[in-house]
Amino acid sequence: MKAVKVRKEFAERVRKDLERRGFKDRRRRIRFEDGAVIIPVVDDFSIPSPHYEIIEDLNPVFREKRNFREIVESIAGFYPRYADLKVFGDVGVMKLPAEILKYKREIAEGVVKNYRLDSVWLDRGRHGMERRPEMEPVVGSKSLVEIKENGCVFRFDLTRVMFSQGNQYEKMRVAGLVNDGEVILDMFAGIGYFTVPVVRHSQAKKCYSIELNPDSYRFLIENIKLNDLEGVVPVLGDSMHVTPENFADRVIMGHIRCQDFIEKAIMALDGEGWIHYHEAVPERIIRRPVRRVERAAERMHAKLIEVSMRKVKNYSPGVYHVVVDARIRKS
Ligand SMILES: C[S@@+](CC[C@H](N)C(=O)[O-])C[C@H]1O[C@@H](n2cnc3c(N)ncnc32)[C@H](O)[C@@H]1O
Repeated sequence: MKAVKVRKEFAERVRKDLERRGFKDRRRRIRFEDGAVIIPVVDDFSIPSPHYEIIEDLNPVFREKRNFREIVESIAGFYPRYADLKVFGDVGVMKLPAEILKYKREIAEGVVKNYRLDSVWLDRGRHGMERRPEMEPVVGSKSLVEIKENGCVFRFDLTRVMFSQGNQYEKMRVAGLVNDGEVILDMFAGIGYFTVPVVRHSQAKKCYSIELNPDSYRFLIENIKLNDLEGVVPVLGDSMHVTPENFADRVIMGHIRCQDFIEKAIMALDGEGWIHYHEAVPERIIRRPVRRVERAAERMHAKLIEVSMRKVKNYSPGVYHVVVDARIRKS
């Protein structure tokens, strides 16, 4: 059995290259030996390089578990681009594109066995402004999960509320921007996606957290308690109608379709403050979110003092989830 022996500083580059070209042997684990990295390769590999040495692998370590890609490949014969598995505690949620849907049961059984899970659900998308998930049970039916993220605990029922794992950095980034004693408004609080980490990791004075969906609101209250948060005021209602005016230093608008709420967010600011406006936007019109904030400020006769935009994650092919940070002064 063959492997390549690589100096640490080249290991990641070599690994990626071997993986991309299909030479890495996925059945065996990468390991450290004598200060070098040993990357298992397939037996007919023979491409020389100054960056590594091809060796006989005398101490192979086999993986006991197969990963999601290997499970899908072994059942469907290929791995489609938008297949995905997320694991929440002992429950898995799969996304399978149409071409491999017919294998859902076999794939789910492979996932349960290899990841030692209780249940596996098929994610069929989100609906409406409340982003309610449509989940199909494939193996088992456990749906109440508890996960840890950024030092916070979140409990939720994944068949009733959405949970997006791709925004972890964004949540901590916003927490890091909060000045001591700030009053925050979270206009689309969900189960506390932003409220919990922001309040936990800052010295905010108060956080008003508005949520429309009673299921999410119930978990918001539970997660405030679970994380011992003080100063959070949960509000069940539509932020278009229940948002107070002239009170907040910072407004979090963590919903990717909330362009109609920008003026409401500005009204909520106490004279001057920040809004963090999220949007899913196609790459070809990438400045649209900034223009929307500029126009809303103009309509409100407010001044945009600072504005910047950053990518949160890829949303779908050619579409980005972005956030606009805008500092606004009302006249
Ligand atoms: C997309 S989720 C939040 C996702 C979150 N930003 C994350 O990082 O995972 C948006 C939440 O806003 C709530 N929502 C939608 N429209 C609302 C409204 N008008 N007022 C208050 N909450 C609303 C939904 O019920 C949902 O829980």
